[in-house]
Amino acid sequence: MSDVERDQARELARQIGVDFGATLAVALAYVGDRLAIFRAIAENGPVTSAELATHTGLNERYLREWASTMAAAGYVDYNPSEQKFALNHAQRTVLLDERSPFNMAGAFQYAITCIRQLSPLTDAFRHGGGVPFADFGPEIAEAIRRMFQAGYEAWVASRWVPAVPDVHQRMLAGGEAAEVGCGSGQCLIPVAKAFPNSRFTGYDVDQGSIALARDKCVRQGLVPRVIFEQVAAEAIPDSNRFDLMMAFNCIHDMAHPRAALRTIQRALKPGGAMLWSEARVSDQLQDNLGTWGRSLYAASTMHCMTVSLAHGGEGLGSVIGPSLARELALEAGFASFDALPVDNSFHQIFVLRK
Ligand SMILES: C[S@@+](CC[C@H](N)C(=O)[O-])C[C@H]1O[C@@H](n2cnc3c(N)ncnc32)[C@H](O)[C@@H]1O
Repeated sequence: MSDVERDQARELARQIGVDFGATLAVALAYVGDRLAIFRAIAENGPVTSAELATHTGLNERYLREWASTMAAAGYVDYNPSEQKFALNHAQRTVLLDERSPFNMAGAFQYAITCIRQLSPLTDAFRHGGGVPFADFGPEIAEAIRRMFQAGYEAWVASRWVPAVPDVHQRMLAGGEAAEVGCGSGQCLIPVAKAFPNSRFTGYDVDQGSIALARDKCVRQGLVPRVIFEQVAAEAIPDSNRFDLMMAFNCIHDMAHPRAALRTIQRALKPGGAMLWSEARVSDQLQDNLGTWGRSLYAASTMHCMTVSLAHGGEGLGSVIGPSLARELALEAGFASFDALPVDNSFHQIFVLRK
């Protein structure tokens, strides 16, 4: 081994060591989220591990080791003179404030829910097929909602829809809108509240998500102006019905994304528009090499691509750049495809016209 190769090996080993610790810290942060340990520190801190045990009813020895891990990771603060743990403002925002787009608690849950499926995923590497969405259990839908809801609440009704002025006018005046792959209504419900003169339909194939969305709608008094249907995007029966159709972070999960886009094109009214979001990436792997691309390709392999392949689907994967998105849109019969002129570091948003 040359000196250069030795330095490269040392650097790669160092990086993998960092990733090893990060993986274990994320797993333990998931435990802290599920057992409300972060919340107990926020509400009672600064606290020693013994005080934390009193507040939570959890085992002190485990809490001490857990809190030491979190302190080493920078997820909680540690005061050595008092041996107390606390959460500063930034840590509270990122770990506990689910109304903030900076909140990452859902990411712990998403990662661990995916890791639980490594055994069937490994089988899929050998034999093909995939892991169905339902096999990830209810935590996957909860994790996705927690990861995306705050952003949708902050951006969709106040920035993304107004960036299409004629459709925005229709929504203000009283139009009809739909969202496909809507999950449990994390986007559709806040958007519907922002446009009280319009009617909204959410479509998703996941029974649990639709049940949760319907429940929220009933509790918030939005029925029948806002309804949810357990219908696949590609099975929406209508033509020329909707002024606005939305598909956020879901076309790539679908077994038949091309059929879904054709159906959406047909269901739009003339003059209506589709808003479609995918993660902000390039079409070229070489442009995506880095921590952001790593997260996306990993989530795609472990979840987005595999749920599509599980149903004999196309398995597009979650890394869809603007060129592929344009190609899919034009193939589906849309007359125009443009990037929505809004800044967003996570999403790229496209506007498609019939
Ligand atoms: C990654 S989640 C995104 C949920 C939501 N749009 C968000 O961004 O928070 C993908 C969603 O697409 C749904 N889905 C998958 N295939 C679908 C299809 N063919 N038609 C409608 N929904 C579908 C899944 O059930 C899941 O709720």
